[in-house]
Amino acid sequence: MDSYFNLKNITTEELKNVDLDRVNVNCSPPDFEPQRQYYFMAKCRQIVASKRERLGRPLYACIQTFGCQMNARDSEKLSGILGQIGYVLTDSEEADFVLYNTCTVRDNANQRVYGRLGFLNSMKKKNPGKKIALCGCMMQEPTVVEKLKKSYRFVDLIFGTHNLYKFAELLCGMWEEKGMFIDIWEGTDKIVEDLPVERKYPFKSGVNIMFGCNNFCSYCIVPYVRGRERSRRAADILSEIQRLSNDGVKEVMLLGQNVNSYGKNLENALSFAQLLAEVEKVEGIERIRFMTSHPKDLSDELIAVMKGSQKICRHLHLPLQSGSTRILERMNRRYTKEQYLALAEKIRREIPDISLTTDIIVGFPGETAADVEETIDVIRKVGFDNAFTFIYSKRTGTPAAAMEDQVEEAVVREGFDRVLKAVQDTAKKQVARLMGQTLPVLVEEVGDRTDGQGGLLLCGRLSNNTLVHFPGHPSLVGKIVDVTLEECHGFYYTGRRAGAAAETGRLV
Ligand code: 5AD
Ligand code: SF4
Repeated sequence: MDSYFNLKNITTEELKNVDLDRVNVNCSPPDFEPQRQYYFMAKCRQIVASKRERLGRPLYACIQTFGCQMNARDSEKLSGILGQIGYVLTDSEEADFVLYNTCTVRDNANQRVYGRLGFLNSMKKKNPGKKIALCGCMMQEPTVVEKLKKSYRFVDLIFGTHNLYKFAELLCGMWEEKGMFIDIWEGTDKIVEDLPVERKYPFKSGVNIMFGCNNFCSYCIVPYVRGRERSRRAADILSEIQRLSNDGVKEVMLLGQNVNSYGKNLENALSFAQLLAEVEKVEGIERIRFMTSHPKDLSDELIAVMKGSQKICRHLHLPLQSGSTRILERMNRRYTKEQYLALAEKIRREIPDISLTTDIIVGFPGETAADVEETIDVIRKVGFDNAFTFIYSKRTGTPAAAMEDQVEEAVVREGFDRVLKAVQDTAKKQVARLMGQTLPVLVEEVGDRTDGQGGLLLCGRLSNNTLVHFPGHPSLVGKIVDVTLEECHGFYYTGRRAGAAAETGRLV
């Protein structure tokens, strides 16, 4: 009989090539990470294999992701584990295992989850072997878990943001347990590296550089559900990016709730600008993006590094939230309207071809029509290329939820429509400034728009993040090609590959 090995004797480096079918799972699990999770992956693999044998068909798993880029990256980690333990990944919620990775930043995301759970329950009645799991930010709220325990008993597994790395161990728990298996941690100072990841795109990837947030903007639930700020060690980030590059990745997006305060809790402190300068040196990486920057922490050093870089994309997402100094103060944003305007002007002066995008909240408690006018004034003065405009959502437990002067819905709607109109007007002008230029586009996918001759258009992004649709062969996906921008349609362009005048999207 082939020898089985004990993961307690395997180094982290060796783990990457480990054959999970030859791991000894009859001994106790290692008490250190990531070896412990590989032990549970091996155990899950046996369970999935026996289910597959019994059913005489593959087992399918589906992850639905709500919310931000952080959640999207977390879902890639969860997919990595599901792939390793023998599930076939699918987009269909008919799957044997369905996991919702939830968001709770605004209430409408929560409502969508509750709505869809009802639909999953009806599917489960037809397939009693089906397992339903929930994770992500929404699960960090005790009131949500109470509601699920009371009215959604058909959910099999619930876990949170801090113990996501334990997914394989939690799955084993779920299979051993009768009824709901729940494990939520209040916080953690741990960052577990070197677990499998299944990327959505072969040519681009998110890379976490930090977790959590210490800013406590008064409307925001993120610091409560994602915990305190923790930065990853620069060496770990850089070796991950090197590995991604070796694997064909051309574009990385450095992810954190507030990337500008990267490194503050590290022993060998490195600023975000210094980290970017190191990422720039990784061979094979052609584009570097990052999300999200807090205006209060954006340094001159960062502007200088961006200006001198060949790889950092000409795009900065700089959430404004409100243009009214009075509201900004109540939001605990720690900058004024004038400071934001001065910062935007400095960035544009130093890097003229940059595109600026933003987030705006309308209807924060106490906001008047005059405050909304201030926001519109900033939109016009800065000239954003795009803005995500949100209606204020009351989040239980945040300071803003306890403010007495909540704004009436009809007033919020009216302000929201005015802000949206201002964003659309300025963005149209801003985006159109590149008309006629020939610029490199990273082709991301075959889109769903047609070229008028029966072919599908490819869809990609400029360095400044603007979308471009153009005719071309699907084999160009993942490549950077030069495209002449021929027509601007508000937030995106249509164009033609330079030197390919008669190209269409048809395969033949
Ligand atoms: N209501 C509305 N929008 C919010 N955001 C964060 N919290 C809330 C809330 N309670 C928005 C902010 C943030 C983006 C990710 O979500 O604009 O930048
Ligand atoms: Fe929320 Fe403010 Fe932190 Fe962003 S910076 S996650 S808005 S608390």
